[in-house]
Amino acid sequence: MLLSLEERFPGVRFYNPFLVEVQEGATIGPGTRVGSFTLIHAGAVVGEGCTIGSHCNIHSARLGARVSIQTGCHITRGVVIEDDVFIGPGVVTLNDRQMDGRFSFPMICRGARIGGGSVILPGVRIGADSVVGAGSVVTRDVPEAATVLGNPARFRVVGERLRGDE
Ligand SMILES: CC(C)(COP(=O)(O)OP(=O)(O)OC[C@H]1O[C@@H](n2cnc3c(N)ncnc32)[C@H](O)[C@@H]1OP(=O)(O)O)[C@@H](O)C(=O)NCCC(=O)NCCS
Repeated sequence: MLLSLEERFPGVRFYNPFLVEVQEGATIGPGTRVGSFTLIHAGAVVGEGCTIGSHCNIHSARLGARVSIQTGCHITRGVVIEDDVFIGPGVVTLNDRQMDGRFSFPMICRGARIGGGSVILPGVRIGADSVVGAGSVVTRDVPEAATVLGNPARFRVVGERLRGDE
């Protein structure tokens, strides 16, 4: 018998269950909300209390609890996203640096916040509680609690605020 999404994932709220696809073999924790036109692939593990926006593509990645993924994100296979991470709209994560089939996977640590439109290169580790500015291309690891921005993303923080080049 074909089960509905609500039957397969009790406690998960689908804004419109007819406009979401969750492949067999994906798991989604209770309290998570999923927007429309989103595809969650086989092997994806989504923790409790997450928000997955509309038009997202979640491959077989591992998401912790209370992760927020805004509209239009591409979460590629093998990405690990720890608890309480915020990912702004239109963020792309990648797993094949030379595009030759040799994979390495980004890791986004607890509490990190990724600005909208950013691109996270394969194998990059984004430290806990760090901030990635909107539109950044992150090519190297980001230290814990740092703020980075730009293309390529560079560390650019003084105290709690960013400073210009004065
Ligand atoms: C990185 C960020 C957190 C910095 O905020 P802030 O501390 O208020 O920084 P300021 O606005 O004071 O900017 C400081 C300097 O950095 C520059 N800057 C800020 N954000 C930048 C970015 N994303 N890319 C490149 N430069 C940036 C500013 O132009 C400014 O440079 P200047 O001093 O030469 O003029 C913020 O700009 C940002 O990108 N937030 C992400 C927002 C987002 O995507 N939200 C998603 C949910 S809607």
